[in-house]
Amino acid sequence: MAEDLADDVLRVENVSKRFGAVTALRDINLHLRKGEVLGLLGDNGAGKSTLMKIIAGFQNADSGRIVVKGEEVTFRDVDHARSLGIDCVYQDLALVNELDVVQNMFLKRELVSRPVPLLARRKMRRLTREALDQIGINIPRLDVPVARLSGGQRQAIAVARTVTSEADIILLDEPLAAMGAKEGAMILDLVQKLREEGNVSIIMIAHNYVHVLQSCDRVNLIQGGQITFDKPTPETSVEELNEIVVEEYRRARRAAHAD
Ligand SMILES: Nc1ncnc2c1ncn2[C@@H]1O[C@H](COP(=O)(O)OP(=O)(O)OP(=O)(O)O)[C@@H](O)[C@H]1O
Ligand SMILES: [Mg+2]
Repeated sequence: MAEDLADDVLRVENVSKRFGAVTALRDINLHLRKGEVLGLLGDNGAGKSTLMKIIAGFQNADSGRIVVKGEEVTFRDVDHARSLGIDCVYQDLALVNELDVVQNMFLKRELVSRPVPLLARRKMRRLTREALDQIGINIPRLDVPVARLSGGQRQAIAVARTVTSEADIILLDEPLAAMGAKEGAMILDLVQKLREEGNVSIIMIAHNYVHVLQSCDRVNLIQGGQITFDKPTPETSVEELNEIVVEEYRRARRAAHAD
């Protein structure tokens, strides 16, 4: 157990979060080991994005503790979490519509070169192109406002931005949601590559059990704001996950009928 704790780059302990009458997270516990890819599954509204936003410093928990690389932290904001190596690809993306592809890629981490600013712009352009090529996404022009791009192209930019950042704890909130089958496969290949390299630790939210079983080392299921299932992927199956989720649905329906 002590060894397990030492391997954790991130621990969420007894975190709760309410929005008015809605309890999004209920005394939740989660941990992420160094170098692992953790798949997070759960129904719509289960609390997955809320948990990611809290870990990324975007929202505050009402109670509980966050421990990053052995130190308890209270994030001041997203930049504070980023300075500790945590970066998130949000489900709703957080690109700036009016800025172009390159400006979005380097948002808040612009390269500067003095006295010739043009050089930095060229370099950022080249790095942007390389990062997008690495994912395999085709975006013909990098100097258009991202508002004009498709949902999948926007998503690719958000993923590329995060995986090329300094972050070593990467949160991917439904990175495949807007992707076609081919582009989705490319994102999964990228996650696979990062997993093999073992330098970053990843939490990936997805709705597709097959993707999670293929791409993750371990799977957690979040139901009603709590983790109800935690197993290494080789020890579970689509059938088992399906059974748990459907059983919960039936139980909730029976409870509703009993009222
Ligand atoms: N800013 C907010 N204000 C009020 N309620 C919120 C807010 N953010 C989330 N909620 C509520 O908290 C609950 C959990 O939402 P969350 O976005 O974390 O779910 P999720 O698991 O990511 O769902 P999905 O799979 O649909 O993305 C939902 O009931 C949601 O309506
Ligand atoms: Mg969500």
